[in-house]
Amino acid sequence: MNPSQDYGSPPYDSEEAIKPFIPSAKMDVYTLDKRAISDPGKLTLTCLATGFYNKDVMMSVRKDTTTLPEELIMSSGVRLSDDDTYHYSILLMTYKALKGMHQAAAVFLLAFSAATQALDNGLMRTPPMGWLAWERFRCDIDCDNDPQNCINEVLFRDMADRLAEDGWRELGYVYVNIDDCWSSKTRDAKGRLQPDPKRQVLKFPGGIAKLARYVHDRGLKLGIYGDMGTYTCAGYPGTTLDTIETDAQTFAEWGIDMLKLDGCFSNSSVQEQGYPLMSKALNATDRPIGYSCSWPCYQGGLPPKVNYTILGEICNLWRNYGDIEDSWDSVLSIVDWFTDHQDIIQPAAGPGHWNDPDMLIIGDYGLSMDQSRSQMALWAIMAAPLFMSSDLRTINSGARAILQNKAAIAINQDPLGIQGRRLIKEKSGIDVFWRPLSNQASALVFFSRRTDMPYRYHTSLKALNYTKGTYMVYDVFSQKVQPMLKDTTDFVVSINPTGVVMWYVFPAAGWQAEAESVHFTEILKRMMLYQREEYADSLTEL
Ligand code: GLA
Repeated sequence: MNPSQDYGSPPYDSEEAIKPFIPSAKMDVYTLDKRAISDPGKLTLTCLATGFYNKDVMMSVRKDTTTLPEELIMSSGVRLSDDDTYHYSILLMTYKALKGMHQAAAVFLLAFSAATQALDNGLMRTPPMGWLAWERFRCDIDCDNDPQNCINEVLFRDMADRLAEDGWRELGYVYVNIDDCWSSKTRDAKGRLQPDPKRQVLKFPGGIAKLARYVHDRGLKLGIYGDMGTYTCAGYPGTTLDTIETDAQTFAEWGIDMLKLDGCFSNSSVQEQGYPLMSKALNATDRPIGYSCSWPCYQGGLPPKVNYTILGEICNLWRNYGDIEDSWDSVLSIVDWFTDHQDIIQPAAGPGHWNDPDMLIIGDYGLSMDQSRSQMALWAIMAAPLFMSSDLRTINSGARAILQNKAAIAINQDPLGIQGRRLIKEKSGIDVFWRPLSNQASALVFFSRRTDMPYRYHTSLKALNYTKGTYMVYDVFSQKVQPMLKDTTDFVVSINPTGVVMWYVFPAAGWQAEAESVHFTEILKRMMLYQREEYADSLTEL
């Protein structure tokens, strides 16, 4: 090896590219089914070349999904394509070859590896679900006069009780997340954030660690809020560059499971340094802590100011756009922004890293039932995190049924993790959204922006880009199975003003395989009962 040689820039993703520098290198490409690694643990490959490179190399591949050869001592996972499969370029070398290498090669190897290092906490392979205080309970700190609704331990314990006892937890709503206004206005003597110890009615009498234990005892997770800046948006102490590690450590010691890091009282340079540093600091705590970054929404949400590649590497989710409010206008403005910019943001989402259009306001005061179904359907098809912000102690049964709709949740939680897109924007005010799901299934949302009366929208699956075939359709909110549909068959859906019709669709030919999958078993069982006769007929037609 010539130490002064210019090795070019990574990624070196072919044998030809690497051979000039390391003649003994051998490159194999393993093609792994993304579905098989939808719930990966970490496979740690310990580099044997201690002495000049003694770092573990991580790959997000489940050990049992691939057999890795013994002589693998240096590896790098490179996602080469965005389709259904991940291709991992694996660089193989023998121990001997590595030992004989010059120091310069080690530097090169480090660069090679660094190109693919990412936030790899293994969390949030499907969009996170839970409850978040902000939209509904804001910064109500008047615990003397409003003890049931102020930001204090009681509120979070109450919500944990509801999540655990009213069927939410089993559906996946497991995070109980504290937002702003939880802390004291001052740090403690050791410079750590602390809950307010002095108010007349103590807000968190046992500290956050005690609340975390309460939440964990109920099979739930606790999230907390911080701000990468001098103050939080409501004026509480923020996290400055010099307190990142202390704060990450404090949260880990308390047993925190997720951090939302806001970006008020900050600037682009602090954010550019701070958000990646917090990611690193959280990783270094050894406690898996989901990381929600508000960074992009403070930088306008779009490139060149926002780099979605970096975000996907350091954060599990990120707020792209402004705050949701309790109104239909607010929901609509978010949906508009997300769809107008879908070409940029849709590819950024995937298992472990999600765009976040903000909380679900279903069950509050601003949405009708139709609008509530619309928010649920659109959030589900956009693979959005599902954080409810309503009072679960008093939520009405209609809102609860929408939030607990199993098919909508299953669509949101599909393991492929591909964010849906708007396919069609009709002049009539109808938008059609589509999302590919595992096992060749897909979801459709017919959304009406109209404000006059139910609109009868005429189309066919072929017009919505479906390939030739016969399809089974389940209507998510009416919970009814539709008659079998050929791609060419014209059909009509009646969509209420500001409402949706949401469909789960899959090819009749894939019926058997799909019926065995864990995900839509319940829907499919229902369909099977309903359509057994019709299914048999349709098979002969195909
Ligand atoms: C910002 C965030 C909100 C909320 C408030 C708290 O506005 O975007 O979601 O956290 O701060 O002050």
